[in-house]
Amino acid sequence: MSRYFRAKIRENLPLNRNHKLLTLETSSPENEPLPGQFYMLGVNRGGYDPLLKRAFSLFRKTSDGFQILYRIKGKGTSLLGGMKEGDMIDMIGPLGRSYPVPETGRTPLVIAGGVGMASVFSLIESIPERSYVFYGAKSKDELFMLDELGALSKGLYISTDDGSLGKKGNIAGVLEDFWGRKHETEDQYLIYACGPKPLLGLIARTASSHSIQAFVSLEEQMACGIGACLGCAVRVKSPVSVLQGSEQDFIYRKVCKDGPVFDAAEILW
Ligand SMILES: Cc1cc2nc3c(=O)[nH]c(=O)nc-3n(C[C@H](O)[C@H](O)[C@H](O)COP(=O)(O)OP(=O)(O)OC[C@H]3O[C@@H](n4cnc5c(N)ncnc54)[C@H](O)[C@@H]3O)c2cc1C
Ligand code: FES
Repeated sequence: MSRYFRAKIRENLPLNRNHKLLTLETSSPENEPLPGQFYMLGVNRGGYDPLLKRAFSLFRKTSDGFQILYRIKGKGTSLLGGMKEGDMIDMIGPLGRSYPVPETGRTPLVIAGGVGMASVFSLIESIPERSYVFYGAKSKDELFMLDELGALSKGLYISTDDGSLGKKGNIAGVLEDFWGRKHETEDQYLIYACGPKPLLGLIARTASSHSIQAFVSLEEQMACGIGACLGCAVRVKSPVSVLQGSEQDFIYRKVCKDGPVFDAAEILW
């Protein structure tokens, strides 16, 4: 169920110079988000500037609320970064489609680029010691929760653009290396990914070449978050094109209502 509510900030913890972990308390017992769902947060302290709420993924549920991991990017996230313990935030959520639960017997490969970890962390947490996690960022100070991820996963693979931790380069390259060492047959794997769109496109191609199903979470710009403005529309293959394996016909889908999680094979990259 999605709805408007107010949440109280318990903590707005800096993780590095431009990332923070926001812990929110909410008294609403029906607020039960699923991995991959998101919230629209009002960052204007009850005023009108900025008018539009900002979208953030569920990072982790807590006993009396939930957490959001965010990167300070522009005006809205800077204002959010300035909020303090005890401040109240207007919210809508939980919104959107969650990651499908992986069937028993399939091994999830969970891939996060940068702050994309915010979206997949609760998925990894919901399937302890079942997934291999691939986590890439610009440098080691932009990689978070590594101890927890190591404990929650069957294996944790890291890459950084500058080589300060893990393999130097893109996390999609680390995934390619993984195929050479794998022990399971490919149809046992299932991919989940969130990160910059070019990375998701690379992962979609890798998944397709190995005939592995992949689910990706898209982080398009959003204005309303509830399906009313069409601001988040993306082109996906029409059902006929999916069946034919072609890209000839497309339709528009709303990331906020039909996603943010999509089967990667549907998207026109
Ligand atoms: C489903 C989803 C989940 C996300 N989860 C996370 C997360 O967990 N952590 C994280 O750090 N980031 C997340 N993001 C990205 C986050 O929403 C943006 O970084 C944030 O909105 C930036 O806000 P800003 O004001 O700081 O930046 P700005 O670049 O100043 O503003 C971006 C925002 O302005 C509005 N906007 C600007 N132009 C347009 C336009 N043409 N049409 C419609 N709206 C417009 C939108 O609200 C947009 O989100 C997520 C995005 C989506 C869609
Ligand atoms: S953000 Fe308005 S329709 Fe999706």
